[in-house]
Amino acid sequence: MNATYIDGAAQLVYLNIMQKLRFLTAGESHGKGLIGILEGIPSGLSLSSDDINKELKRRQMGYGRGGRMKIESDRAEIISGVRWGKTIGSPISILIENKDWKNWETGMSADIEHEGSISPVTRPRPGHADLAGVLKFAHPDIRNILERSSARETAMRVALGSIAKKFLSEFGIVTGSYVIQIGAVKIRDYELVIKNTDFEVLFSTAEESPVRCPDIEASGQIIRLIDEAIKKGDTLGGVFEVFVTGLPPGLGSHIQWDKRLEGILCHAIMGIQAIKGVEIGAGFSMADRSGSEVMDEIFYDAENAHFFRKTNNAGGIEGGMTNGMPVIIRAAMKPIPTLKKPLRSVDIITKEAFEAAYERSDTCAVPAASVIGEAVTALVIADAFLEKFSGDSIGETARNHGSYLEYLRQF
Ligand SMILES: Cc1cc2nc3c(=O)[nH]c(=O)nc-3n(C[C@H](O)[C@H](O)[C@H](O)COP(=O)(O)O)c2cc1C
Repeated sequence: MNATYIDGAAQLVYLNIMQKLRFLTAGESHGKGLIGILEGIPSGLSLSSDDINKELKRRQMGYGRGGRMKIESDRAEIISGVRWGKTIGSPISILIENKDWKNWETGMSADIEHEGSISPVTRPRPGHADLAGVLKFAHPDIRNILERSSARETAMRVALGSIAKKFLSEFGIVTGSYVIQIGAVKIRDYELVIKNTDFEVLFSTAEESPVRCPDIEASGQIIRLIDEAIKKGDTLGGVFEVFVTGLPPGLGSHIQWDKRLEGILCHAIMGIQAIKGVEIGAGFSMADRSGSEVMDEIFYDAENAHFFRKTNNAGGIEGGMTNGMPVIIRAAMKPIPTLKKPLRSVDIITKEAFEAAYERSDTCAVPAASVIGEAVTALVIADAFLEKFSGDSIGETARNHGSYLEYLRQF
């Protein structure tokens, strides 16, 4: 996180959570498309639009999604920063067109001549940015808020995150996720997952599940639960877990609050729409256990010359730094706030009470949220990796990384 101070009183005017990478997204849900820029990826990384599109497809899947997913079928176009299949070190920019744009060309037009071509939205939905947004930005039309607060924007975070994932994979670092709870249905070994180091198996099982759940029995129960919710016109939330394997110790830092890796990760995960809780490793469950049950004791493997742990309650982070174990983040998503079942609200113009019922929304988007969680985690980890190893080209980063690994072996 960088801070700029404008005077001697050290007034904090600017905060940027990333140190080496930076990214920005733009675009409205029914606008022409989404735009994203990612700066700081070294030159020489192989990258194609297929690398990005396969992640976009993963975000669109999941049992319980609404009608929008059928229209979307996202495809990324790389506009800059890549030449002949390799990054060139300049900002990478991406465009994802909104397939539905033809129906919104006047309603979402930038031109004043189209003003009033669709009716304003005046009924704020509970659980959305709608009411707080119109009050804050002084809008008479909730559309000016909902178009950007919508999770449509996360398609671009997934696109940019896919580049970070590709970068990390060059160094044997793998980011993945799976769903461990939807509604009241939890996977059977809910507390054990953090100790299970066979992430490959969990991940590949989850990839085959319609709800990204690594427990096949729980998957079936979840699907039935979603079907029931659809029938009742209600919605569901849940919990997903993101893991990162192959990390060296020492990414992040203990020296300042805003350099602690878990803080930055939590910020990024909480930045996903509808995420209301984040834990690192055993998280909240550590609170009711004693220290001797929770601390991950340290061992040394002389043959392979490295320190290791037999447990991972810390979720791979101690003192704000990676400790060499897999990083594990859990996130809780609230139920989707737009319901077919009516919710009470008040019209912003007439101030009359009404009961809102909406169609065509997701019933459950926890599987999609887990893919978004992977993406933002990869962006934060790639940033911490570049902060540690730097490099303008992949070769330079690899040399720095390799010499650190050698130093660790000699330590
Ligand atoms: C992948 C994903 C899909 C979502 N789909 C919907 C949806 O179809 N309908 C809806 O009302 N909210 C949906 N949401 C949640 C809203 O975007 C979110 O609750 C809302 O913007 C308010 O933000 P907050 O919950 O963070 O306060 C989705 C969230 C994610 C991450």
